[in-house]
Amino acid sequence: MPRHPARHTSRTVAEVVHALARRFQRAKLHYGHGTETAQDEAAWLVGHVLRIAPNRLVRRLDKPVIPSRIKIIDALAEERIKTRKPMAYLLKEAWFAGRPYYVDERVIVPRSLTGEFILERFQPWIDSKRVQRVLDLGTGSGCMAIACAHAFPKARVQAADVSVEALAVARLNVKRHRLGRRVQLMRSDLFQALKRKRYDVIVTNPPYVAHAEMKTLPREYRHEPELALVSGRDGLDAIVRILAEAPEHLTFGGILVGEVGNSAKALQKKFPSVPFIWLTSSTGDESVFLLTAEELQRHRDAFTRAG
Ligand SMILES: C[S@@+](CC[C@H](N)C(=O)[O-])C[C@H]1O[C@@H](n2cnc3c(N)ncnc32)[C@H](O)[C@@H]1O
Repeated sequence: MPRHPARHTSRTVAEVVHALARRFQRAKLHYGHGTETAQDEAAWLVGHVLRIAPNRLVRRLDKPVIPSRIKIIDALAEERIKTRKPMAYLLKEAWFAGRPYYVDERVIVPRSLTGEFILERFQPWIDSKRVQRVLDLGTGSGCMAIACAHAFPKARVQAADVSVEALAVARLNVKRHRLGRRVQLMRSDLFQALKRKRYDVIVTNPPYVAHAEMKTLPREYRHEPELALVSGRDGLDAIVRILAEAPEHLTFGGILVGEVGNSAKALQKKFPSVPFIWLTSSTGDESVFLLTAEELQRHRDAFTRAG
């Protein structure tokens, strides 16, 4: 039984969201898997159960919610609080760059800040008209590959992951977005199966959590695959390998866009002479870098020595 059963009389969407947000606050949930606040998390759950897209909910705030829906909302809220599972796993859905994706525990919950820069087509760093081939390395649910396919409608996108389980989820999403002709999924340990292939844009949100840091993360993260999060002692194992091998896989004028979260400072410190361009997100974060093929080539020895 829910600890705070809802009154099963007619309540408006706004009232249900507000009560749920207070309940989440009291439970001290951790956010960051698609939402940043209790209010947003509550709105997402209510919108999902009522089948209202997140951007439309605001226009329906004064509508009544029928008791049977309140019951479903209560049950999901209770599970969220009890298990600390990210909401996306309970709803089997996450939103990324304005589009919905199927998700379950085989992939991390899409939340990459790179989504913003994909929507901007990486302007002004590349001429979007010349983008014909894109690689998403460590594709997980396929969200970045699919967002790139939408952003660059003439491009072919390769989506690689070492995890067979993740690729199975990505396959569902490629089908859902009807992009089977332009998004190709591949099993590959980073660039290993991509020999001699070159791309105009490589995007990657690789695992970047330091081994010791994993133990300090809130319970929500333990529901995600460790392979998607942890990358060696300092969190930089995967990205250093990517930096060393990327020049072999970029076209002339191509770009690498990589997300490294909390490890951004450690990465810049490891390579002080590399002019990483840290892209600023709308929230002011600077954890996504961009490097041109030329700069990667120039600093290749440093990356190879560190790998
Ligand atoms: C942080 S998740 C990112 C998933 C997705 N791109 C996103 O933004 O939601 C990292 C992904 O890299 C994959 N991965 C980990 N090690 C890898 C490797 N050596 N080669 C290829 N993919 C790898 C994981 O399976 C996981 O799906």
